[in-house]
Amino acid sequence: MSEVFEKKILNGKTAVITGGGSGINLAIAKRFAEHGARVALIGRTKEKLDAAAAEIGEAGGSATGHPADVRDYDALSGAIKAASDAHGKIDLVICGAAGNFPAPALGMSANAFKSVIDIDLLGTFNTCRAVFEHLRRPGASIINISAMQAFTAMPLQAHVCAAKAGVDMLTKCLAIEWGPDGVRVNSIAPGAVDDTEGMRRLAPTPEIRQQLTRGVPLKRFATKDEIADLALFLSSDAASFITGAVVVCDGGQSLAGLGISMMSALRPRA
Ligand code: COA
Repeated sequence: MSEVFEKKILNGKTAVITGGGSGINLAIAKRFAEHGARVALIGRTKEKLDAAAAEIGEAGGSATGHPADVRDYDALSGAIKAASDAHGKIDLVICGAAGNFPAPALGMSANAFKSVIDIDLLGTFNTCRAVFEHLRRPGASIINISAMQAFTAMPLQAHVCAAKAGVDMLTKCLAIEWGPDGVRVNSIAPGAVDDTEGMRRLAPTPEIRQQLTRGVPLKRFATKDEIADLALFLSSDAASFITGAVVVCDGGQSLAGLGISMMSALRPRA
């Protein structure tokens, strides 16, 4: 249980979480369940979803799994309807399904670029589009999981940078269009997060990890629980007037690129 939030602040709510079988999204699902929400997990692999739902159930929460690929609109709509039927309604959504692999632009085929755009950007649109009719009422919230790549250009990440920049603009457009219905739409942009598939791919050796950590003013990676606590806040009534925001949770890393390089360069002379 988060020590930051002592009350069960999502009692009576139902959350749909794509990519909910693992990583940051599963951490969010667990945090939401601890705070009284019933959670519906959507992902490609039924076994992963079943295992995650069972783990949440054993901890005293309520969770169901609904397999679908976010790239397949009809299958995704079916999974969202099944989630709504299972829990009676949907109040909260986390669009977390994502794909990534490090590759130079010249090292990826058009299909490789498209697969990340399709999972991250089109998949987020598909989820928002398909869930909206279930969600359309004041108090509802959507959070799209973005990344630092949305506003920090990175080598080997052209596909992810383009996709996540699109996700954040989608967040802002939907916040404007759906605000009058009382539906809030926000993005969370994590930096490096420990113990995730993404960081296993992007920081595969202790040396790369150390190098990345040097560029973070708080001198460490985030924990999945820290991202989950932010999602909990943004999904709760405590954030009832926040919409269209991209909330960065990166220990200051995105601020510090040039600053950290200058500090390292100047330090020997100080
Ligand atoms: N470098 C270059 N191209 C790559 C690649 C790499 N490391 N990994 C995959 N590709 C290419 C494939 O060759 C293929 O292109 P092609 O058809 O021209 O050969 C294309 O990407 C699609 O690959 P495929 O494996 O068929 O797609 P998929 O839909 O099964 O997988 C990915 C999607 C590629 C994003 C895969 O990495 C994935 O499923 N990731 C999910 C987990 C994840 O990334 N988590 C971290 C989130 S931050």
